[in-house]
Amino acid sequence: MCGIVGYIGKQKASAIILEGLKRLEYRGYDSAGVSTQHEGRFELAKKIGRVDGLIKGTPALKLPGTTGIGHTRWATHGGVTDANAHPHISSDQKFALIHNGVIENYSSIKKFLLTKGYTFQSETDTEVLCNLIAYHYQKEPVSAEASRFLEAVRKTLRHVEGTYGIAVMCADCPAEIVAARKGSPLILGVGDGELMLASDVSALISRTQNVVYLKDGEIVHMTGRNFTITTLEAEDVSPVIDKVTWSVADAELGSHAHFMEKEIFEQPVALENTMRGRFSEDGSTAQFGGLNISPVDFRQIDRINFLACGSAWHACLVAEQLIERFARVPVEVDYASEFRYRNIPLSRNTLFFVISQSGETIDTLAAMREAKRKGYKVLALCNVVGSTIAREADGGVYQHVGPEIGVASTKAFTSQLLIGAMLALYIGRMRDMSFSGGVAYVNALKGAPDLVRETLKLAPQLKDIAQRYAKYHDMLFLGRLALFPIALEGALKLKEISYIHAEGYPAAEMKHGPIALISEQCPSVFFVPSGEMFNKVVSSMQEIKARKGKIIAIVTAGCELPPDLADDVVRIPECHEAVQPIVATVPVQLLSYYIAVALGRDVDKPRNLAKSVTVE
Ligand code: AGP
Repeated sequence: MCGIVGYIGKQKASAIILEGLKRLEYRGYDSAGVSTQHEGRFELAKKIGRVDGLIKGTPALKLPGTTGIGHTRWATHGGVTDANAHPHISSDQKFALIHNGVIENYSSIKKFLLTKGYTFQSETDTEVLCNLIAYHYQKEPVSAEASRFLEAVRKTLRHVEGTYGIAVMCADCPAEIVAARKGSPLILGVGDGELMLASDVSALISRTQNVVYLKDGEIVHMTGRNFTITTLEAEDVSPVIDKVTWSVADAELGSHAHFMEKEIFEQPVALENTMRGRFSEDGSTAQFGGLNISPVDFRQIDRINFLACGSAWHACLVAEQLIERFARVPVEVDYASEFRYRNIPLSRNTLFFVISQSGETIDTLAAMREAKRKGYKVLALCNVVGSTIAREADGGVYQHVGPEIGVASTKAFTSQLLIGAMLALYIGRMRDMSFSGGVAYVNALKGAPDLVRETLKLAPQLKDIAQRYAKYHDMLFLGRLALFPIALEGALKLKEISYIHAEGYPAAEMKHGPIALISEQCPSVFFVPSGEMFNKVVSSMQEIKARKGKIIAIVTAGCELPPDLADDVVRIPECHEAVQPIVATVPVQLLSYYIAVALGRDVDKPRNLAKSVTVE
């Protein structure tokens, strides 16, 4: 989950690269570095810590040269040290390289290179790759036709097992960069007399909206303002230049203290964008332009499997309940990371969905490829346009919520919940859901943004509650049916940004063990919706209260709890059960955010995490 930036143009490369790295830091922030090419040699500045520290603590910003590469690291091979920071320079000083991914056969390659006299300054697999390119380069015959530099990289990559997104400079080739990808994202930005490379659009959007999404197995050779794309087998690729639809402002903080805060409060608009143009003219069902499955074929589906990781997996659990409730189709949800190894029996008419905000999560990508290998159609719910998962899926739905910069997923998560609810409607109306039932469901979904706007007004109350609960070291989140996954999501939010241990459970599960955790030092957050489960959840709360456990109750407005049962009561608006998970998510997002702020955590870049997990 590292961030990569490259630049060739007329401007000073280091300043542009450092600006791009700042926009990629959410992808990994253990260390940062930049290298530029100047008068036949490499200038290099790199150190552990954030990009700002690199700028303040090294001459990175002053490096001369108009060609350069830069990197923010999330450590895989080798600890967080200056020596392990990228870029890496080959021991013959001929190459500078940055890398996102994991070279699985680096150890055998390193042993071979050591016998050839190459030396190593770091523990990384990346430096091995760099020296292997140098090895092939010195063996590559000099020819007028092919680029010796490009061919050395191509030969190297044919020997490599694992994943990579790389950018390489050669000391003999001024104003040239060779870049390639396999399993890690890489985008080429085509600017006005300049070219950029980046792991995602946010790092180059300030300079161009014209991008080429590189595909696995492709190599781009940038020479000045020109570029060619070929495959590992040296076949030519005709590039497709796409236009990015969002602007720099979408990727900027504005007046907010953190991206997470901004993205929590963006949710009403994000939900509106997710729904835009996606209801039928008669208003009785959803419509999707990119599923690439005819209604007739969709009708034959007798089972649905969802695959995802993290918050996206929680969204799958909600979709499972809504699709089974409203469309009566059996649904199974698997952790993407487990699916490949479980080898579960599958029925012939199974349809797979993967959910991934980034569209680059390697576990989800691998699970999708496994399902496709077995001959199943896989549809993807993604936010990042042109991402690997989006492009390799058989069809799908883009979330259209704009870039989500905060590591903790918020607007992307509720957008995934909304699309799951829309799928339940779409499939339900192919089966037993009536026209009037469909119209009522559509109207409920259309009301979701305003219900979230109303719920966001609770922010001051959640901020006040957060001050009193920030001192705890453990917290339980409890919900039932479609709110159990929201309990899981609330626990994950708290864990990942405040570092407080938290667990989510179905509320009735408490008495089967977890209730042993309850004491005055372990508070609980209960989701208490109106309807059939209300009294059952109240009973669970009373079991907690009897053991002196503090309770934050997130209750549907209009429902009265027994007096003194909850220590804090947060009232959320009454709504359709398909919208309830979306509305109920907002208070726990706010609670975790304000607790993390109260504890002084780095909310947008929590320790040990990265926004997109592109290593297994
Ligand atoms: C959620 O807050 C986390 N950042 C994480 O669990 C995330 O949802 C997970 O890594 C999946 O990412 P994706 O949606 O980009 O595939």
